[in-house]
Amino acid sequence: MPVKYIPYYPSTVEGQAILNNFTRTRRALSYRDNDRVHDRIRRGMPFYELEKIETVGENSKNMLIRGECISACAYLKDKGVKVDLVYIDPPFASGADYAKKVNLRRCPEIARKIAEMEEEYNTNGNGDQNGGIDFDELRAFEEKMYGDIWNKEDYLNWMFENLTAIKSVMNDSASIYVHLDWHIGHYVKILMDEVFGEDNFRNEIVWWYPSGSDPFPQFNRKHDNIFWYTKDIEKWTFNFDEVAIPYTKEQEARFDQWDENRGNWYYWNINPRGERVKTFKKAGVGEYDVWNIGINASEIKEIGYATGKPQKLIDRIIKASSDEGMLVADFFGGSGVTAKVANDLKRKFIHVDVGINSIQTARDRLIAAGAPFDIYDVQDGVSLFRNPAQTMDKLKTLITGLKNEDSLDSFWVGAIHDSKLGMMPCYIPNLLDHSTKILDIPLMNRIINIAMPELPDSVKKVIVHYVDIEDEKELDAFIRENNPTDLEIELRDLKEVLDDVVINDVADFEMKKEGKEYVVRFKSFTSDRLIQKIEEYNKKKELQKIGKSLLPKKEADPDKGSDSDNENGDDEEDNDDVAVNGKDSNFTPIQISETGLELIEFISIDCKNKDGVWHSNTEIKIDRKGYVIKNGKKTKEFWDGKIFSPQKPIRIKIRNIAGDESINAI
Ligand SMILES: C[S@@+](CC[C@H](N)C(=O)[O-])C[C@H]1O[C@@H](n2cnc3c(N)ncnc32)[C@H](O)[C@@H]1O
Repeated sequence: MPVKYIPYYPSTVEGQAILNNFTRTRRALSYRDNDRVHDRIRRGMPFYELEKIETVGENSKNMLIRGECISACAYLKDKGVKVDLVYIDPPFASGADYAKKVNLRRCPEIARKIAEMEEEYNTNGNGDQNGGIDFDELRAFEEKMYGDIWNKEDYLNWMFENLTAIKSVMNDSASIYVHLDWHIGHYVKILMDEVFGEDNFRNEIVWWYPSGSDPFPQFNRKHDNIFWYTKDIEKWTFNFDEVAIPYTKEQEARFDQWDENRGNWYYWNINPRGERVKTFKKAGVGEYDVWNIGINASEIKEIGYATGKPQKLIDRIIKASSDEGMLVADFFGGSGVTAKVANDLKRKFIHVDVGINSIQTARDRLIAAGAPFDIYDVQDGVSLFRNPAQTMDKLKTLITGLKNEDSLDSFWVGAIHDSKLGMMPCYIPNLLDHSTKILDIPLMNRIINIAMPELPDSVKKVIVHYVDIEDEKELDAFIRENNPTDLEIELRDLKEVLDDVVINDVADFEMKKEGKEYVVRFKSFTSDRLIQKIEEYNKKKELQKIGKSLLPKKEADPDKGSDSDNENGDDEEDNDDVAVNGKDSNFTPIQISETGLELIEFISIDCKNKDGVWHSNTEIKIDRKGYVIKNGKKTKEFWDGKIFSPQKPIRIKIRNIAGDESINAI
C-alpha cells in the first residue's frame, strides 16, 4: 500500500483545448473528464519509500531508481527535488514486445580455443571477418524486456498521469523533451498542450535516421518525433552557441565589418520589414529542427539494449537545454544513455526505469564512464521478476490451475476450474500499468458493472487478484452493496504469489589468499530459471525446424526486406527470432557445459558491508565475446573462472546472463 499520496502538479492549464473537445464518435478519446484518471489525479501520486541498494563513488546526487516513473516523481516531489531538464522516450504504443538478446558466455576452460577456431573459420575462405559466422549468435536466445501493446485510451490515460507527475518535479525554468513516433505522437502532443500549455510548445524535432528499407510498398518510415515544451513561456535555457552549426567559409566571409562597441563582426542585412539591420556574428547558424543522426547499430549492439538511442541525439538536447551542474532526468531511462551523456557533459542525472535490465545496463555503462551514483529500489511491494512484462508471463504460470479460456473476454486472464464451482474467471492487474495495481472502488465498479455481466450464466465465482487494496473495509462494503449478481467475488493477494517468483541461483566457489591478493575461483554455477528457459527455446527451435522442413522450398524474394524487432526499424541488426540461431534450418540445440560458468555475466565483491547497501570493491563483467571488463575497463583477457580482490571479500554478487542477481556471503 502506498505510504501516502503526493499531489500532482496543481491542475492542467486552464482554457486549454483537450482531446475531449474533439468527441465525434463513440470511439473518441477522452480523459480529462474521464472519471478514472481525474479521480487518480485528484488523489495524487502513490508514494512508496525508496531503499538504497548500491552506492558507487562518494557523495553523489546522481540516482538510478528502479521503479515506475510515477513512483519516482512522488518520491522526488516529497523530498523537494526539482529537475532542470527531462528527456523521456517512453514505450511508443508500438504494438510490439521488446526483447533482449541473451548470449551465453564462453566457458572459461575453452574460451581461448573457441576464439582461435572462430578466427580460423572466418579467415580461411569459409567466411571473412565481417561476413563470417558470429559463433556467439549461435548461443543466443531472447528474453522479453518490456511490452508495448496498449489500447490507445489506456495508453493516453497512463501518459497523462506520467506527464502530470513529471511536471510536478520540474523547475520553473525546466524543459521537457518527449520522444515518440507515428504510432501515438500526434495524440501525445495534444496531451502535452493540455498539461504544459500550447504557448510552452517550443519545437517538434524530427529525428531522421535514413538507413535501410521498410519491407512495405510505401514511403520508408525513418523518423521519430521529439516534442519540446518548457514549463514557463519566458524562463528557459537554450544554449544557442552550444548547438549552432559552424558557418561555412562563404557564410563566415559575409561578416566583414567590425563593431567597436560590441567587439564583434557583423554585416548589413535587410529584415522582413525592409529595414537595414546589423547581423552580428555568432557561433554559427542556428540548428534546425530536423536532425539527421544515424541509429548507430554498433553502439546499440555493444550496450545490448534494443531500443537504445544514440548518444549524439541526447548530447544535442542536453547541451541545448541545460548548463553544467544542472539536474537532468530520464524517467524511462532504458540503456542509460541520458545519464551517461549528462555525466559526460558535467550535469547531474536521475535515471528511472521499471526493468532490472535497464538498471543493470545503465549501472555498468556509468561504471565504465567513472560516474558516481546511488541505486534505489522503489518499495512498492511487487517483487518484479526482471521486469513487469516477464513478471506477468511468470505469474500466469504461478497461479495454480490457471488456464487460458477462449470463451472469456480479454479482461480475464484465464480461468481456474473447480469440480464444484466450475469455471472461475481470474483477473490479474496489468503490472505494466501502475493504475491497475491498486484495487479501489472505481476498478471494482468496472469489474462488477462491466466485466461480470458479460460472463456466461454458468459462472458462479470470480477471482480478483490485487497488489494493494485502497481501503479494505470500504471495498468489502462496496461489493456487498453493489454486486447485483449472485456471483461470488474472491479477492487474492498477488504479493504472496510474487514472493515465490524469485528462486536464487546456486554458485559453488572457493576463496584462497594468494600472495597479497584474495582469489575466488568458481567451480560451477546453476540457474534453474535459465536452464528451463534454454530448454524451452531448444524445443521451440526444433519444432520450427521440423515445420520448415515440411514446407515446400521457396525462392527468396529479393524485394522483401526483413522485418525487425528494433523500434527504429533498423534492419542492420536482424533480431528476428527465427534468424537468431544459425539461420534456423542449421539449428543445433544450445547446450550448457558441466560447470555452467557460461551462464555468468557479472561478479562483484563487497569488502565493506556484510548486508544492506552494496559496495562494489572490485568487479568483472564478461562480455559477449568472453573478454573480461575489469572495474569498467575493457581487457583482451578471456575469463578464467576467477576474480581477484586486494581486500578480504565479505560477500559476492553474481548476475546471470538474463540479469538475475544472487548474493552469497563468503
Ligand atoms: C523506449 S525504452 C527507452 C530507451 C532509452 N531512451 C534508451 O535510449 O536506451 C522505454 C523504457 O521505458 C521503461 N518503462 C516502461 N514503463 C515504465 C514506467 N512506467 N516507468 C518507468 N520506466 C518504464 C522500459 O523498461 C524501457 O526501458
